[in-house]
Amino acid sequence: MHRKHKMTTANNHLSLSQSDLLQFANRGLLLHRWKFAPRYVDELLEHLPRLSIGRSETVAMESDGETARAFHGGQTDNHTFEQLTRLSVLLEAAQQILRDRAYVYQFKVNLKSAFAGDAWPWHQDYSFWANEDGMPISRALTAAVFLDEVSEFNGPMYFIPCSHRAQLPNGRTAPTVAEPPVTWQRHVGSTDLSYQTDRNKVTELAAVHGLVAAKGPRGTILFFDSKIVHASPANVSPMSRRILFITYNSITNRPTTLRRPAFLVNRDMRTLDVVEPHPEIIEPASDFLE
Ligand code: SIN
Ligand code: MN
Repeated sequence: MHRKHKMTTANNHLSLSQSDLLQFANRGLLLHRWKFAPRYVDELLEHLPRLSIGRSETVAMESDGETARAFHGGQTDNHTFEQLTRLSVLLEAAQQILRDRAYVYQFKVNLKSAFAGDAWPWHQDYSFWANEDGMPISRALTAAVFLDEVSEFNGPMYFIPCSHRAQLPNGRTAPTVAEPPVTWQRHVGSTDLSYQTDRNKVTELAAVHGLVAAKGPRGTILFFDSKIVHASPANVSPMSRRILFITYNSITNRPTTLRRPAFLVNRDMRTLDVVEPHPEIIEPASDFLE
């Protein structure tokens, strides 16, 4: 039995409003009106190395073979990150959007290192989750938490607003350039990403809806739909672009194929209890996406 849980709290000022929910439904992305304060981002950064120490099998490397590209999983072994996934600004917002209780499907940090962080080709996340994990429907979303300021210089994510509503095939399987030693690495790679959106479709959708570059200060919280088409360019700047991603899935939408490692598809599918953040770690965000 799940403990009874409030899905929305009308008088909770941190909750998403009806207009936020409408915006997410229409555009497939939403900048939260609240962001994390610098001191909390510092705390997350302090704990970041723990996501890789002794967990080298979960670290994806850039094609140079030297630079770490992403850390996967590890949140359940670290109190700071475990609590982060439960904070109402993230978890309750996700549950409002999903209109259901949620659990953490995937947790990762993309490091996009200064000078070396490579691109992400155009794709939809749901292609991976449907094709690889048998996720029944796209009732999942991702919360991005910026650990660095993201500007036009350090490889911001590009989104095509409204593209989550386009009828697209479930991801073109990109030709294998050279099979890497472990298949999952093609799910987090740069040039050889397994499922990519057809470029003609990207062109069509961008002509209709335009593009958004997700820029903002450290601590920014951005939600995006599992089907929104997105990409990001390489980071040639001297500033790193670390973004932490928490994917929340509806507890009624559990994956049916558990062949990928647990650090990519979390096996603990129990719903989480919401934790209210200390008021000092939350502050108002300013608009940046338009
Ligand atoms: C992703 O698509 O999962 C990440 C893209 C990025 O980090 O720029
Ligand atoms: Mn993605």
